[in-house]
Amino acid sequence: MKKTKVSELLGIDYPIIQGGMGWIADAELAAAVSNAGGLGMISPTAGAKEGENWPENLRRQLRRAKSLTAKPFGVNISLEIPEHKECMDIALEEGIKIMTTAAGSPKLYTKYLKQSEVVVMHTVFSVRHAKVAEAEGVDAVIASGCEAGGLISRDEVSTMVLIPQVVDAVKIPVIAAGGIADARGFVAALALGAEGVQMGTRFVATQECPVHQNFKQAIVKAIDTDTTITGRKSGIGARVLKNELARQLLAVEEGGTTAEEVQSLLGIGRLRLAVEGNVEEGSLMCGAVAGMITQIMSVAEVIHSLVDGHDKLVASL
Ligand SMILES: Cc1cc2nc3c(=O)[nH]c(=O)nc-3n(C[C@H](O)[C@H](O)[C@H](O)COP(=O)(O)O)c2cc1C
Repeated sequence: MKKTKVSELLGIDYPIIQGGMGWIADAELAAAVSNAGGLGMISPTAGAKEGENWPENLRRQLRRAKSLTAKPFGVNISLEIPEHKECMDIALEEGIKIMTTAAGSPKLYTKYLKQSEVVVMHTVFSVRHAKVAEAEGVDAVIASGCEAGGLISRDEVSTMVLIPQVVDAVKIPVIAAGGIADARGFVAALALGAEGVQMGTRFVATQECPVHQNFKQAIVKAIDTDTTITGRKSGIGARVLKNELARQLLAVEEGGTTAEEVQSLLGIGRLRLAVEGNVEEGSLMCGAVAGMITQIMSVAEVIHSLVDGHDKLVASL
């Protein structure tokens, strides 16, 4: 496939980014993605043991990734985690030149990161957010539709309608996230005007992903209607697979609960439980694409099926 503005910006073969994922996106997964020609991303919590210091864990993960790949990879900074600034500084110390920021304002750190010549990409959920991020000087926006796994915005704009509107509204490259698992979604995102894609759920169900088999199998078994959005009323919306925790969350929300009560059920430790294999009490953050994922593949198979499928599809259209 041809290079796009995103593959050129990031110095990668194919414009396919493995999204940051708390507790999940570790050195092994990121290096596998980068070695296959995409961009691997590392999350500060991934690979950390209970009670372990996340910034130091991040440093260890970054050094491990450097030993596993000579290709570019980046760091995902979720601005909601308390140690986000420390993590950012460790990434800078370790010479990381690509960062994605999410779950907070791009006004907080974009200029700071640009001083160190970092390529900054910020996750947005609407045209308004995208314009703010562009004005702050980010290099690209990751426009995430409400099909995506993990945190979503209360506006719930789907990828299909969000991407063209963001593409029309900003001059910087747009990366589509949410609802992409195979070549059809990849080509569709590019046809909508995106210059690249970010995928999360598809990479969870890979051989290299460090989550427990129970989590991977839950994705493989899921059908089209098996995800739901919890935390809607409290404003901490997350797309997850339906399980016991999701049922509890939806029930307390019906009762008009507070954001604090939802947070106690939805804290980051809940994702960790799922990563460790507790698929009933853990938060199985997962995109609506789960219904399309029918097997656990290697990371290289995922990326090559996207690229080969892209070429065949484009030729046939
Ligand atoms: C289990 C899980 C955890 C996630 N954690 C994060 C995170 O910590 N930071 C972030 O920016 N995005 C996070 N995301 C979003 C992904 O990076 C990505 O944008 C999203 O999964 C794309 O949609 P898809 O699931 O349809 O592929 C997470 C997604 C999943 C599935």
